Amino acid sequence: MSRHWQEIQKKLDSIKEKQLFRETKTYHGIDFCSNDYLGLATNSRMMEYYHSLSNVYPFGSTASRLVRGNYDSMDLFENEFASFVEGEAALLVSNGFVANFGLIDSIAAPDCYVFTDRLNHASILDGIRISGAKKKYYNHLDLNHLESLLRKADVDDPQKKQKRIVVTESLFSMDGDSPDFPTLLKLKEEYGFVLVVDEAHALGVYGKEGKGILFRDLPKESIQSIDYRVYTLGKSFGLEGGIIVTKQIGRDHLVNVMRPFIFSTAPLPIISKLAIYALELVRSMDDLRYHLHSLAEGLKVLLRSNGFSITNTASHIIPLLLPTETEALFYAKRLQELGLDVRAIRPPTVPTPRLRISLNAKLATSDTNSLVLALVQIRNEWNGLQIRN
Ligand SMILES: Cc1ncc(COP(=O)(O)O)c(C=O)c1O
Repeated sequence: MSRHWQEIQKKLDSIKEKQLFRETKTYHGIDFCSNDYLGLATNSRMMEYYHSLSNVYPFGSTASRLVRGNYDSMDLFENEFASFVEGEAALLVSNGFVANFGLIDSIAAPDCYVFTDRLNHASILDGIRISGAKKKYYNHLDLNHLESLLRKADVDDPQKKQKRIVVTESLFSMDGDSPDFPTLLKLKEEYGFVLVVDEAHALGVYGKEGKGILFRDLPKESIQSIDYRVYTLGKSFGLEGGIIVTKQIGRDHLVNVMRPFIFSTAPLPIISKLAIYALELVRSMDDLRYHLHSLAEGLKVLLRSNGFSITNTASHIIPLLLPTETEALFYAKRLQELGLDVRAIRPPTVPTPRLRISLNAKLATSDTNSLVLALVQIRNEWNGLQIRN
């Protein structure tokens, strides 16, 4: 084996030793792990709409959006989405990862400070890294810590020659919790930073018509003062795509400098057609949102009363904490065998191992009850194994 492949083998051996090896596997069992929160990926009205489309060609967009890959449906979707979330302009890109990564790389530079929640998504952290900006982590949701870092930056650079950018998710996908937005907006007023908020997991699920957590927690004027909002079509829209909502000049700037937008083939044209229809459905799904939230509240109560430890979640994402990777893998494997699709999430994705239970509106109370029964059974099995060993 050449030196390169020996190094790769060594890395994989070390990953396996730590119980962190991952594999791609086709899913089986009831969905407790996807991000298809409203069930739109298999919604019958979406399917009917898809079959009613008379022109689904070309399949591929054939070029980047700046060459031959722009379609009327993309422009139309961007306009409708911007008006839905009451922003000036929207930019559709391939996915949410590209949206965060490309956006942050485009607005940050080595002479900037970027303040990031310690648990922000990899696409945000990688965007900061590639931009060369000075990365300042603040403790998860700890706005006092953020303020102390902002104050320190003002002492180090009183003329504010270096731009300050703050980035946060509105709903943390691995913990299910959210920042205190009114306080964050007060800090923005006081310290004058550029603010980026990623609504990936909140779109479609929170706020009136599913507009997101910002609409649940803030008045309109405050939302409009947020410089950039990032959304994805890959979660509650059941599709694929990323959207950046900003001012018109913000969009013009990105179209001219954002590398993954400029140097990559545009999304499939059909995605924007389906997204226009999905947007209509999402807006009308308040009943499903209500069902999802009551399902989540019921499951949290049941898990806690059965002695399971869950994060301080305030959402439909309910991470169940387990002490070791081995235990998390055991639970996930047994749940799969019982027909319940729950996945173990391990470092480096998260700092500590857990089962990420994410609920969707297609589930019924009987499903969440079955999940709790199975978890209790698996806990007994695990405890039995520990006694025997
Ligand atoms: C908070 C957050 N932002 C962005 C993304 C990336 O979105 P996408 O899956 O559309 O690439 C994810 C994906 O899981 C995410 O959790």
